[in-house]
Amino acid sequence: MATPSRSGVFAGAADPRVERFAESISVDRRLYAYDIEGSLAHAQMLAKTGLITAEECEQIRQALQQIRQEIEQGDFKFSAALEDIHMHIEQALIERLGDVGRRLHTGRSRNDQVTTDLRLWIRDAIDGLDQRVLAVQRAFVDRAEGDREVILPAYTHLQRAQPVLAVHYWLAYCEKLDRDRQRLADARRRANVLSLGTGAAAGTSLPIDRQYVCQLLGFDSLAANSLDASSDRDFVLDFAYAMSVLAAHLAGWAEEWILWSTHEFGFLRLPEQFCTCSSMMPQKMNPDVLELIRGRAARVTGNLTSLLVLVQGLPLAYNRDLQEDKQPLFDSYDTVDACLELAAPIVAGSQLNRSAIAARLEEGYLDATTLMEHLIGKGLPQRTAHHAVGTLVRKAIDRQVGLRDLPLEEFQAVYPDVDSSIYDMLGATAAVECFTSYGSTAPQQVEDQLRRWQHRLGAADVARGEG
Ligand code: ARG
Repeated sequence: MATPSRSGVFAGAADPRVERFAESISVDRRLYAYDIEGSLAHAQMLAKTGLITAEECEQIRQALQQIRQEIEQGDFKFSAALEDIHMHIEQALIERLGDVGRRLHTGRSRNDQVTTDLRLWIRDAIDGLDQRVLAVQRAFVDRAEGDREVILPAYTHLQRAQPVLAVHYWLAYCEKLDRDRQRLADARRRANVLSLGTGAAAGTSLPIDRQYVCQLLGFDSLAANSLDASSDRDFVLDFAYAMSVLAAHLAGWAEEWILWSTHEFGFLRLPEQFCTCSSMMPQKMNPDVLELIRGRAARVTGNLTSLLVLVQGLPLAYNRDLQEDKQPLFDSYDTVDACLELAAPIVAGSQLNRSAIAARLEEGYLDATTLMEHLIGKGLPQRTAHHAVGTLVRKAIDRQVGLRDLPLEEFQAVYPDVDSSIYDMLGATAAVECFTSYGSTAPQQVEDQLRRWQHRLGAADVARGEG
């Protein structure tokens, strides 16, 4: 039997090695539901415009639904001879309906079909990831609510910097993840364009109705240039990029928690169900899941790089190279989806080691910047105050004490106009209270932000019908 892609122009079959080399069914079979969805809309449009009859359309509809069922039940036979998912479904249709099945591909090419399938798949994939990100954000907000009284050292260069409320720390991740959601939404908007009907390269001379297909499939608009549409993979890149940033955020969080759960930091207890053991050392409880989340970001970034290199330098319009877009795209999605699925319960199930954090909170001069700002408030130029507090810290280090353990005369030696009220702002707990600026760790600011996040995520629950 001649395969449908081999027309009368060929005298014989392809070399059997080509079949194995060129097939994509092993990768694109997961698009089957979207391929059928696109075909159903296409058939409806063909009937509306008179290119097929209403009765033919109904036969096609029924047969496509049977095919979908067969695939879902695992009864469908896939074979490399039929190259890709488009040919598989079309061939199955022809086997059932004969000439009626042969009409479905009217005014359509696999070049516009494959991008339509991908665009439909990406919409759902993004909606799924969005829910997963929300679940992680919700876990952080719940942690924030539960860790209200805790103060943590904030780090720069992984050196102790300033004191912050734990709530501020947890909400920082909500902000990062919020931008991830925005990037995903942008990618979804760019994917939500109908490419079907742009044909192989130049469109079609048949009287198709793309606007109607656009409505049926719920796309926002029509791709306006057929040459562009069949070669456009920008929407794939956009999604891959959004996932790369998301994976990088998760990797940074994982790295932080791996450190925090070490004996050396002792800040965090990870949930036991998400740790693994050593085959040799019986005492070990290893953060393997976090390490894998960190490690898998490499794959996601690698996939983005592969996609960028894949599309660069391709002439218009469709080139078979583009078939190679799916494997990295699917891999990034599967990877990020799996990481997010585990991130939520790890965030929810971890516990701050409050006593260990409190016991060492006064180490590292977290209050030095607040003291400097107090002197600035008294009229000292910033550079002068910076230098003055530096000398005080030096003295405290030499005596192995905190700033608040220095006698008043030491403070007066660097700036005479200070009195014992200076001690009210020293120490990490007091220093946290001194912040005021918008976006800072100021307790009232942080409280407002927590409310805002609770409200926003509560609202997201309501939007999903769970409120
Ligand atoms: N399997 C192909 C892909 O994923 C579908 C389009 C093939 N088009 C063609 N003219 N060979 O890109």
